[in-house]
Amino acid sequence: MPLVATGSIVEPAVRDRRGVGAFNVIQLEHAEAIVAGAERAGAPVILQISENAVRYHGALTPIGRAALAVARDASVPVALHLDHVTSTDLVREGVELGFGSVMFDASALDYEANVQATAAVVARCHAEGVWVEAELGEIGGKDGVHAAGARTDPGEAAAFVESTGVDALAVAVGSSHAMLTRDAVLDLDLIAGIARAVPVPLVLHGSSGVADDNLAAAVRHGMTKINIATHLNKAFTAAVRTCLREDDHLVDTRRYLGAGRTAVTDEVARLLGVLGSA
Ligand code: G3H
Ligand code: ZN
Repeated sequence: MPLVATGSIVEPAVRDRRGVGAFNVIQLEHAEAIVAGAERAGAPVILQISENAVRYHGALTPIGRAALAVARDASVPVALHLDHVTSTDLVREGVELGFGSVMFDASALDYEANVQATAAVVARCHAEGVWVEAELGEIGGKDGVHAAGARTDPGEAAAFVESTGVDALAVAVGSSHAMLTRDAVLDLDLIAGIARAVPVPLVLHGSSGVADDNLAAAVRHGMTKINIATHLNKAFTAAVRTCLREDDHLVDTRRYLGAGRTAVTDEVARLLGVLGSA
């Protein structure tokens, strides 16, 4: 199964009320694990690379090409997405490299400036056949502060989609980025209200802080693309920590990174079941 367009995974899922797992890639092992988990679940999946991860590597191309190669060899549909991008140069680079979609994050700007900046990116990306996600109502936690109080207004969301032409919208409904506990409480009525008002797929960010039953409920109420990063890093790091604790003489990086990769594969397969992705 070749690399596919993001819309070809997300749009049928909206129709069938299935969730789509969108998992963040930092190291090559993440990409390998996420695709292996999706293959085990028999579900499509989105690999996403954030601007922060690009900053960590110092460039998009090496990790981007690695993720593209893993996606192209998968036996399930895999899409490649650039996540939380604020730099228009990085958007252009991703499009040139073959990313099928971009989340342009102008959510820190006021409404009018967000509309203007996002609409300009949409025009450029659509000319290249690239799908664009944007965010309205800044979802907390991007600066490490867990502020889950932000809420997106359904009417404003509909107007934002109309004015910008975005293909998907990230909304603030009670989650917050980078949570280590899974006790965020989602506003399910608000999700249903936004889904009724907005004609494009909805995206849940900060999903690591949301428990399984709440994730499944979010999908039932109209959420489709479910972004998960921290939760997989918790699984990865716990496995590495155990491995290193058990053997003081261990130096082969494949032994402990391999344990992390296996833990992420298991968790991705399980989460895709929770989201009803298959
Ligand atoms: O865009 C990525 C996600 O929103 C991930 O958030 O690390 O809280 O799961 P998380
Ligand atoms: Zn996010």
